Amino acid sequence: MVQNVATRMAELEDEDFHLLSGIDHGMRFSRWVAEEKLPEFSRLDPGDIVYRIDRCMDRELLERKTIQYTGYRLTFEGYDALALRTFAERETIVDVGGPLGVGKESDVYEARSFQPLALKYHREGYTNFREVQKEREYTANNRHRSWLYTARKAAEREYEVLETLYPDVSVPRPVDQNRHAIVMERIDGVELSRAKLEPNQVIGVLDLVLNEMAAAYRAGYVHADMSEYNVFIATDGVTIFDWPQAVPTDHENSEELLRRDIENVLGHFHRKYPSNAPDVDETALKAALVEDTFEAVEQFINR
Ligand SMILES: Nc1ncnc2c1ncn2[C@@H]1O[C@H](COP(=O)(O)OP(=O)(O)OP(=O)(O)O)[C@@H](O)[C@H]1O
Ligand SMILES: [Mg+2]
Repeated sequence: MVQNVATRMAELEDEDFHLLSGIDHGMRFSRWVAEEKLPEFSRLDPGDIVYRIDRCMDRELLERKTIQYTGYRLTFEGYDALALRTFAERETIVDVGGPLGVGKESDVYEARSFQPLALKYHREGYTNFREVQKEREYTANNRHRSWLYTARKAAEREYEVLETLYPDVSVPRPVDQNRHAIVMERIDGVELSRAKLEPNQVIGVLDLVLNEMAAAYRAGYVHADMSEYNVFIATDGVTIFDWPQAVPTDHENSEELLRRDIENVLGHFHRKYPSNAPDVDETALKAALVEDTFEAVEQFINR
């Protein structure tokens, strides 16, 4: 797991950030940024650079490789530190707390400004790093930057989707985005996977979830990773989160993905509440989707 850099931020000085952002810049051109390039990219004196490198290496914000030449690159902690610094400068965040959740492809922390926030660092390229390399999924141009690039794209994507959906759909309010990180409203609630609904609440909660999915569809998106792990439930309703893989409704697979999302949700309710989940005719629902009549699905949901 990547360490929480927030605890190390206070020890870092402006010049350390100059070095880190210089390397961030250099990583656009090569996977390992050559030592000779550092004065140009970081605008620091060569003497200071040696000292800054040591400080940043000690804090595991940088990695060094010496094969044909000596080069440096950011670790995820280094990239986290740069994003966090940006949020602090913009006064988006004044404080970072403990972990809220560690997902397959992200680390989420509590954060604070004038309201409770959640800070999500995307890790997409990191967890799949080896596979991605093997599959050569990335073009020669951006392969050297693959993990930073993939994670940043995922964060940009998720932020864009949240901005489109909020407030018509019940999603966390987007607050800010930088590099591979997003800041959003912190949701109080319990994940649907952990909730224990009373028998008389089951249908109502299922309806709320399906209605949010319908609202998202009307606003132009299919979540595409719906499950009981990406829904919060609280006394005032449900919130659907974790949107980086959402697809626009005009995407060729959008209806297939919507159908899978609905199946995932219905499947969860049937498994967990076999005697209270409504007897939904999944075939009718699927047919309505395949026939490209989302209105029919909506009627079905609002039965
Ligand atoms: N806005 C938020 N407020 C409070 N907690 C959050 C918020 N967003 C995420 N979390 C917590 O962090 C965990 C991980 O977040 P999220 O589901 O967005 O990413 P992920 O789990 O990495 O994605 P995946 O579902 O692909 O594994 C969630 O399960 C949740 O507990
Ligand atoms: Mg998730």
